[in-house]
This record gives sequence, C-alpha cells and structure tokens, in this order.
Amino acid sequence: MIHTNKLKLTLFFFVLLVNLNLFAQDTINLYDKGQEIFDIMLSETPEKILHLVAEDDLDSKAAVLESFLKVREILKSTTDLKNYKYFNTVSDTAGNIYIILENKKKFITLKIKMNKQGKISSEFKIIRGSINDSLALGKKIYQMKCFSCHGIDGKGSLGPNLTDNYWKYVNNEQELFSAIKNGRKGTMMMSFEDYLTPEELKAVFLYVKALNGKKVPNAKKPEGKKKKISLHVY
Ligand code: HEC
Repeated sequence: MIHTNKLKLTLFFFVLLVNLNLFAQDTINLYDKGQEIFDIMLSETPEKILHLVAEDDLDSKAAVLESFLKVREILKSTTDLKNYKYFNTVSDTAGNIYIILENKKKFITLKIKMNKQGKISSEFKIIRGSINDSLALGKKIYQMKCFSCHGIDGKGSLGPNLTDNYWKYVNNEQELFSAIKNGRKGTMMMSFEDYLTPEELKAVFLYVKALNGKKVPNAKKPEGKKKKISLHVY
C-alpha cells in the first residue's frame, strides 16, 4: 500500500512532466521530499507507477510512464541518487525541464528537452556543481543585478527585504525561483530569464535562499505575510 503523501508527490511529478503549466498551481514542496522521490525513482515497478498516473486514457498513461522511466534511467545511470537529499524541478519557455538534485555540498542539474507532443526527447545534459561555488556565483550576480533594488545583503531598499520571513507573493521554493526567473508584471521586479543562464538563475536563487534568516542591520521593515516557505539554507 503506497502512502498517500507519496502518491500525491508522485502524481505531482508526473503531472509536471506531462503538463508544465500545472506546475505553478500546486503547492506541494518537492524540494523537501527529495528522499521520498528518490525512493520512488529507484524502486517502484513500472506497473505500480502506471497505476499511480492520474491520466484517464491509456495513451496518456503510457506516455507519462515512458517519460518517467526515461528520466529514471538517465538519473540512475549518471548519478548515485542516495547521495542527494533535495529534489527540485523547474522549466523554461524553450521547453527544457531541469531536474535538480542537491545535498549540502553539491548539486546535479539534469537538463531534458521536451518535444512538441510533451514527451521527453533523448537529448539531455548533466550539469554538476558545488554549492559553495554556486553561492559565490550567486553573490556576484546578486551584486550586479539585484543589489540596486534589494540592498546590501538583501536588507531591502526599493524592493522588499529578502532576509525576513515575510513574503509579498512567494509561497514556496518554486515560486521563489519563478519570482526571479519571471519577475512580477506591473512592478519593478523584472524577469531575469533573458539575462541570466539557467545556471546563473539557479546560483542567484541559492544565494537568495541563503540570505533568508540573516540578521542585517537597518533592514527594511517586513512587507507581505509571514510565511514558512521551507528554505534550506546552507
Ligand atoms: C529595479 C528593481 C529591482 C531589481 C533590479 C530586482 N528586484 Fe526583486 N523586486 C523588486 C520589487 C519592487 C519587488 C516587489 C514586487 C511587488 O511589489 O510585488 C521585488 C520582489 C522580489 C522577490 C519577491 C519577494 C517577496 O516578498 O515575495 C524576490 C525573491 C526578488 N525580488 C528577487 C530579486 C533578485 C534575485 C534580483 C536579481 C536577480 C532582483 N530581485 C532584482 C525590485 C527589483
């Protein structure tokens, strides 16, 4: 019997793979559930996975299963999932999905191309990096692109303070990433998608996460609502 939470996560992951647009609507934080997702990835049989897919017709079910198995095969053949704790996935407008595995020291990003039918193509790229290098890169980018509005160490200026637990519109990890990637229409917060590579976006995202919870003198007063958005700070 598969645990309901696990079931929801699995479905969510499948839905994500099949229909990227649904991604932003779900609030389940995949990042926290790394181990559970890795368990599913490593051990569930195709029959069980097929059973979990929330698609009605057989063709869609089969397509989802195929995508999942392909991702699993790539991940299994290129990395030891047991060494990772956190799981995250993001997408870009060019139809790439990035599956990010992290532990406290390093991360792996698997970049997969989706074809027009929403299936995973066999094209993929693995990007490996160290969290420390990435944080250093994130800091550099922050100083170049974000500092002017969010202040020294994220203390806030024209833009909100990024060190407190108050968020204007971010509710979870994914939304934090997309706040940076997509910006917010009608405000000064612009989209950085065209100005930063996925690796740079990821680095600045990690850096912003690390800023949260820092005590910075003369920080701007909190804006928005107090929310626990499950940030892992390294
Ligand atoms: C031109 C000014 C400006 C720049 C440059 C800028 N921001 Fe912002 N940012 C804002 C404003 C203003 C908001 C609040 C928007 C609103 O009111 O909804 C914001 C919101 C945010 C939020 C959401 C905060 C919340 O409370 O929900 C994040 C995260 C963020 N910015 C990160 C960044 C990062 C990372 C960079 C650099 C890559 C950056 N910003 C660059 C002005 C800016």
